Amino acid sequence: MIIHDTEGRIFTLQTHSTTYQMKADQNGVLLHTYYGPKIQQGDLSRLIRYADRGFSPNPDEAGSDRTYSLDTLPQEYSGSGAGDFRLPSLEVERRDGSYVADLRYAGAQVLGGKYALEGLPAFFGSERDADTLVITLEDPAAALRVELLYGVFEDCDLITRAVRIINDGDQPVRLHRAASLCLDFPAASMDWVTFDGGHVKERRPNRAPLRPGVQSVGSIRGISSHQHNPFVMLCEPQADEEHGVCYGAALLYSGNFEAAAERSQFDDIRLTMGIHPFHFCWTLEPGQAFTAPEAALVCSPNGFGQMSRQFHRAVRGHLLRDPWRGRRKPVQVNSWEAFYFHYDQQRLLQFAKESAALGVELFVLDDGWFGRRNDDSSSLGDWFPNEEKLPGGLPALSAEINALGMEFGLWIEPEMVSEDSRLYREHPDWVLNAPGRPYTRGRCQLVLDYTRPEIRDYIFQTLQKQLDEANVSYIKWDMNRSLAQVWSAAIPAQRQGEVYHRYVLGVYDLLERFRQANPNTLIEGCSGGGGRFDMGMLYYTPQIWCSDNTDAIDRLTIQYGTSFAYPPSTMGAHVSAVPNEQTGRSVPFDTRGTVAMSGTFGYELDLGALSQEEKNQVIRQIQAYRESYDLIQTGDYYRLSVPTPDGQPTAWLHVSADRRTALLCVVSGQAHAGAPFRRIKLRGLDPTLRYRAAEEELWPGDMLMQAGYPLPMLGEYQCLRLWLKAE
Ligand code: DGJ
Repeated sequence: MIIHDTEGRIFTLQTHSTTYQMKADQNGVLLHTYYGPKIQQGDLSRLIRYADRGFSPNPDEAGSDRTYSLDTLPQEYSGSGAGDFRLPSLEVERRDGSYVADLRYAGAQVLGGKYALEGLPAFFGSERDADTLVITLEDPAAALRVELLYGVFEDCDLITRAVRIINDGDQPVRLHRAASLCLDFPAASMDWVTFDGGHVKERRPNRAPLRPGVQSVGSIRGISSHQHNPFVMLCEPQADEEHGVCYGAALLYSGNFEAAAERSQFDDIRLTMGIHPFHFCWTLEPGQAFTAPEAALVCSPNGFGQMSRQFHRAVRGHLLRDPWRGRRKPVQVNSWEAFYFHYDQQRLLQFAKESAALGVELFVLDDGWFGRRNDDSSSLGDWFPNEEKLPGGLPALSAEINALGMEFGLWIEPEMVSEDSRLYREHPDWVLNAPGRPYTRGRCQLVLDYTRPEIRDYIFQTLQKQLDEANVSYIKWDMNRSLAQVWSAAIPAQRQGEVYHRYVLGVYDLLERFRQANPNTLIEGCSGGGGRFDMGMLYYTPQIWCSDNTDAIDRLTIQYGTSFAYPPSTMGAHVSAVPNEQTGRSVPFDTRGTVAMSGTFGYELDLGALSQEEKNQVIRQIQAYRESYDLIQTGDYYRLSVPTPDGQPTAWLHVSADRRTALLCVVSGQAHAGAPFRRIKLRGLDPTLRYRAAEEELWPGDMLMQAGYPLPMLGEYQCLRLWLKAE
């Protein structure tokens, strides 16, 4: 609900458990007065105190009042160069060389339903789900208008924000920074939590008290990156899974981003998030507008768990689009870790037969099917089948797969080109590269200039031809390098600062075209695993390959970190062979299944090479996955412990909306002699109900939550998957 007090110029956004408030003060400065646990009513600007602070200057409107300073006021969208020395949201260069951005309130509008952003991912909602608030700010001297957009999803406690900057003047202006989000908090101690790592070790939570000054994470790799995720949290120092106020902020963006938190000289805190200012410079001609990507906020009064569940609900209901929003996704087998590049039609069909016999529903042909691609040094861009490997091409192969009762899926990497390819030989000028400089290669490949529509058209046409000819019901859209030498031959010198962002817009444009041309095709995002696991991609690809690390024990940490913002239904997770390719570790088959089943389940190994006992396990796992599908895909997710490398078990729980059914998953750590008897306290159950644990006795809900469930003695890396059903 949005309450607009027109007289007081107060805007109050009410969600189920939270309140967000702003007020345009007597000078037209849009103050941020509150964000936190719900408050029924009131003008929260009364909490703001004013004092004459040294070296905090006063705007002209303040006259002789030295207590009024932009440097000390909590602001909704900070300017720059006008006396606020904390993190700026907007940096603008005018024709005359001045860099000041100083915004004042100009008006507001409340609309039913959720606003949309052209060409950019955004949460969506009808008038039943959401409301929109548009607040207009102006900087008259620069002839700039800034529209702050807010989407309020009451049920999910979700508040989205986006920003449109419009040049109303008759001179061009250059944007050097246009944050999507600025959020000021009053003086308090807060912890800053980021999700960091690298390739094969994505999204590990890191938590530390916010120190004075700016702390930031971000990416200048052209992708949101394995190294830092565009999702961050701020929380009370005592906050944990169940307690304390915490704030999660996600950017729906898949390119360079920056998330920064600053603790000021007076201990108040500012969070900003948006496109990374590195190499960003966007020229706005008179009359033109720039839209900064959407940011999404959830505040939880009761710890991280509630915040995550609200994000999960919001993503499932208002970001993943039809038809896959509610459609059952197939169990897949993927050829990558089974064969890498080393396959032919006969080997694939044998693999497919074995897979179909065990109950697999989707067969995914990964890298290596096109051009002369027998390793990763060639052929990207040549999107026609290698007839030596696949006589009859994809139509023949997909027909055989379909005849086995499985759907057919295909790997592509459409943003890339290999120098050893027909495409590169014909169009060497289609790559991003700074003029006169040698290439910086990544996995031997170069990046196509997706800022150029003709290149996107070419890729669309050549790939769509393959999709039209074969019966392809799934696409894995991969992207395997960071961007470097970013320069486009199609863009004038003074506008090269637009290339990174235009590249991302090009990727979104092509994804949308493929989506619309193939409405029933499931697209899985991937960037060397989880290098582009963000809410921007989820708008186009309802699941994303979580990591190239398929070791079940490492995956516990990766999926744990990922779950803070993203629901299990979006996490690509497969059972792979042991010893594991990435770690050399051997984890029992059951455990590999339990971990992969809390994602989009599948296999990534040669099923034909398994023993009969293991094949029987595959059949049982697929059956078990089908039984738990609805619960895992739509239920509430509870993290019960933090994965650690020592002997502690890692546990999590899926609970149905009516709290009558739950699935407890536990994986034990390293084995140590004389291990303690452990109990695990469950959450989210109905304390008044009694639950039958598998075929055993009945357990009262309150006992399970307060005293815990006694774990059996599990050997090293073994698992428990226990159903609890209320009677
Ligand atoms: C990286 C992906 O993450 C893998 O799953 C696989 O598809 C390879 N690329 C193929 O080159």
